[in-house]
Amino acid sequence: MAEIISGKALSKKIRQDVKNNVSDAIEKYGKAPHLAVVLVGEDPASQSYVRAKRRACEKAGILSTTILKPSSITEEELLEIVNSLNQDEDVHGILVQLPLPDHINEDRIIDAIDIHKDVDGFHPLNIAYLQLGREAIVPATPKGILTMLNSVNIELEGKDVLVIGRSNIVGKPVAALLMKNNATVTIAHSRTKNLTLKAQRADIIIAAVGKAKMVTADMVKDGAVVIDVGVNRVDGKLVGDVDFDEIAKKASYITPVPGGVGPMTITSLLQNTLICYERIMNND
Ligand code: GUN
Repeated sequence: MAEIISGKALSKKIRQDVKNNVSDAIEKYGKAPHLAVVLVGEDPASQSYVRAKRRACEKAGILSTTILKPSSITEEELLEIVNSLNQDEDVHGILVQLPLPDHINEDRIIDAIDIHKDVDGFHPLNIAYLQLGREAIVPATPKGILTMLNSVNIELEGKDVLVIGRSNIVGKPVAALLMKNNATVTIAHSRTKNLTLKAQRADIIIAAVGKAKMVTADMVKDGAVVIDVGVNRVDGKLVGDVDFDEIAKKASYITPVPGGVGPMTITSLLQNTLICYERIMNND
């Protein structure tokens, strides 16, 4: 049976560390880190993520402001909000919850975020730094995945990793991060041929597709590590992208849904907010 990597338990520990660091930083700099979150529209999943982010900030001693705007907001109006947050000396992190409504050009909004306050690590310059292996703000989900792998001492060097999904939020940045850690990375996506064969060769599978149970036990080799990034609602229940019950019988490690990558994403966001704040306070 696979060992379960609990994102919930690991998050609890790390969030306590963040809380202690925040408290030390407040003493040192005289003000609290402050994350501004912009939520456009009323998508229930986005609302729930933003609520969870706010609660986690509050518990860690990080100030958080949520700016709610109707989906009728124009691109120019949203740009104005981002620009005013850029200029606000009391804001150290800016997160615009994605996806945005279709009439808004997401790229234009992300490009407008001050890179020093880019807690998501989605700014093209941050992504470029990550690809180059330079110091970067690492997007929260990939960062959380790496923290989970490190927490159980999974060696990445020379390992064959299959990333399923090529999104800008997870697939592409996690691949860059794994490469930086000397893994051999294959990125599969909706047009990939022979996915099963590729999966069967992988030492580590990272599933980030958004399709319930699309990774089945026959695709997983004995002793593989399986990281499930999927959050799918099936009959009112949250399920991941992998068939947890069957795969747990043959994998060495597996992450659950819920309680796996999800909480670690928020934990990484807290860490990134603290990093941005400290860099701003230190002027570097
Ligand atoms: N939507 C889904 N995940 C994320 C994330 O990590 N950051 C933002 N801004 N939007 C998201």
